[in-house]
Amino acid sequence: MKTEEINEAIQETDAAIQEADSRESVTFGANRNKDFSKEPMCLSGRGVTRVFHTGKITTVAVDHVDFDFHRGELISIVGESGSGKTTLSKMLLGLLDPTEGEISYMGKPRDISTRAKKKEYWQGIQAIFQDPFSSYNVFHKIDSVLLDCINMRGDKNLSKEEKHALMTEACSFVNLKFAELTNKYPFELSGGQMQRLMIARIFLLKPTILLADEPTSMIDACSRATILDMLLKLRDETGMTVIFITHDIGLAYYISDSVYIMEHGKFVESGKPDKVMLEPEAPYTKRLISDVPKIHEPWDLSTVG
Ligand SMILES: Nc1ncnc2c1ncn2[C@@H]1O[C@H](COP(=O)(O)OP(=O)(O)O)[C@@H](O)[C@H]1O
Ligand SMILES: [Mg+2]
Repeated sequence: MKTEEINEAIQETDAAIQEADSRESVTFGANRNKDFSKEPMCLSGRGVTRVFHTGKITTVAVDHVDFDFHRGELISIVGESGSGKTTLSKMLLGLLDPTEGEISYMGKPRDISTRAKKKEYWQGIQAIFQDPFSSYNVFHKIDSVLLDCINMRGDKNLSKEEKHALMTEACSFVNLKFAELTNKYPFELSGGQMQRLMIARIFLLKPTILLADEPTSMIDACSRATILDMLLKLRDETGMTVIFITHDIGLAYYISDSVYIMEHGKFVESGKPDKVMLEPEAPYTKRLISDVPKIHEPWDLSTVG
């Protein structure tokens, strides 16, 4: 690494630390006692299963899971690597078909059998993935990433100035300066900045459901807290349902309204975080919790993973 690169990296870290310090602290668990079962159903599943066949090996990645996700609810799906979280996410997003079971969307059986119906479904559900670098087309500049969102949400006919104002607003929601981003390519941003740009996209698209698959696991600790903060702010402002996929049970405890614990493709336990994490019944949940030293103590956001 050259000296100027190191200096630049140090400056970037200092700026991130200053920003993290100046943030208002997040109010976790604000909805902890809210009864979401009275809210309209967004996404539900019965017996949802996905089997993979590779050569002679058969893997049941997701094994007859049932779930009910309601409007405005923040749901965490917690499990170790290989438990089936990403496979389930892909089925929820309509990127992979279940081999068995039913998924309902807005209270009706989900129909994504044609390209047009799929496109309509994707207006309602959007995702942020683990690796921000894989989410962008590297040949598209950042303003075109945001312009695409404006077009996707049906605002193609707005004036140039109106589109510019929307993009500026979306960037400022995630503390990015639009003026500094235009004409840049996604690979010119840091991992944390890329995930923020993903959140700016969600801010513009305002989907009913946001699925975030380990969105903070590939970025530095400092940016992680900021990203979580922004996701929670987005949920509070738009009332969207957030499905948060993580291996971190401590983090799930602090941010979720409901948790589903996943082991070998099955949900072994689910419910309110206080019940699941403070009075766990499944041996798997107990084991995950035993890895978190102090689940009841105030959470230090700078260490979340
Ligand atoms: N396309 C695939 N083909 C075959 N096996 C797969 C495929 N995708 C996932 N799997 C297997 O399914 C299981 C669950 O994987 P995954 O859903 O990625 O879990 P997680 O996201 O919790 O780490 C693993 O055993 C994985 O090897
Ligand atoms: Mg995964």
